Amino acid sequence: MRTTAVAVVMVMVCMRMARADVKPQKDFSLQRFAGKWYRMGLAYDSPGFAPFRDKLKASMGVITALPSGNVNLTMWEATPLGCQVKMYHYEKTSVPGQFTYFSTRHNMVKDITVVDTNYTDYALVLKHKVFNREYTQVALYARSHSVRNNVIQKFKALALSQGFPAESILTPPPTENCPPSGTPR
Ligand SMILES: *[C@@H]1O[C@H](CO)[C@@H](O)[C@H](O)[C@H]1NC(C)=O
Ligand SMILES: *[C@@H]1O[C@H](CO)[C@@H](O)[C@H](O)[C@H]1NC(C)=O
Repeated sequence: MRTTAVAVVMVMVCMRMARADVKPQKDFSLQRFAGKWYRMGLAYDSPGFAPFRDKLKASMGVITALPSGNVNLTMWEATPLGCQVKMYHYEKTSVPGQFTYFSTRHNMVKDITVVDTNYTDYALVLKHKVFNREYTQVALYARSHSVRNNVIQKFKALALSQGFPAESILTPPPTENCPPSGTPR
């Protein structure tokens, strides 16, 4: 068991090094990163997702910094079944700005890197799927629904540099009534 785990970790480390040159935000502060964000950009290259690209909406999420340094993320996503709340739990790593989480959907550990944020306006976040880049994502989070053009350009440049085709780099419109009006925050 333990040997397998060590082997898996070593493969992950090697894969991470092969991707290289994406580093977390220098001096990352989870306290400043916490709070409400809108996902105003998403690069997502999964063939299964392609038919839904034009239906994507800018979901709202709330990051809660836990005393342990781990993170709870609550996302409100507009789906064909209505507005759905999803909870995610990210575990801190030894590198500030880098987290891991277990995806029940894909049944594997993934890692999340906050690549660039200035806390008050935007954040660029990279999600890795280490064994197969199919589901790797780049997301642009913003504190409000208006994002400056230079920030959108940064997001697109990062996604292109990670090998995403232009048509998979999306800047969706805001959701309407998701979360329903009257929801706190
Ligand atoms: C974080 O999420 C876990 C699991 O969903 C939950 O049990 C816990 O209460 C949450 N903590 C906070 C501070 O929101
Ligand atoms: C964050 O970025 C925005 C947009 O580029 C800029 O207007 C703002 O001044 C920045 N804030 C800080 C604290 O750097």
